Amino acid sequence: MTKRAVLITLSALAVAALQTGCGDKALSYQADIKPILDTKCVSCHVPGGPGYEKSGLRLDSHEALMKGTKFGAVVVPGSSVSSTLYRLVSGQADPSIRMPHGSAALPDADVATIAAWIDQGAKY
Ligand code: HEC
Repeated sequence: MTKRAVLITLSALAVAALQTGCGDKALSYQADIKPILDTKCVSCHVPGGPGYEKSGLRLDSHEALMKGTKFGAVVVPGSSVSSTLYRLVSGQADPSIRMPHGSAALPDADVATIAAWIDQGAKY
């Protein structure tokens, strides 16, 4: 197996492990994801903020989040392991591009919520 394949397998297992704690609760952007993004991400990811200016990614609405960066989507509904959003906040990416920039990583519970929400289809 390549290193990349190993990483992908490991992250899939980690997601499965995290999700067992969440039961079948249906997650929504409005109730579960927005509060996380509002406190940890929006300050940089709106026009005028460094995150938006560099990547084109706004994080202040479901529509903007689903649109992604100027290079493309960061959420692949149904597959957290394929989603840049999840990979950056879960610390799988290189530390220099880990999100949020410049502050502590998200708590595991928030990372698990984001993963479960994407896997459930990233609904509003
Ligand atoms: C302190 C400012 C700052 C904060 C806070 C921040 N970001 Fe970013 N974000 C950036 C910058 C700057 C970039 C541009 C790429 C880079 O420099 O790494 C970026 C890029 C991104 C990208 C695109 C990466 C790519 O594919 O090019 C995603 C996704 C992202 N941020 C998600 C988040 C999430 C989710 C949060 C909150 C958990 C967050 N960011 C918090 C500054 C920030």
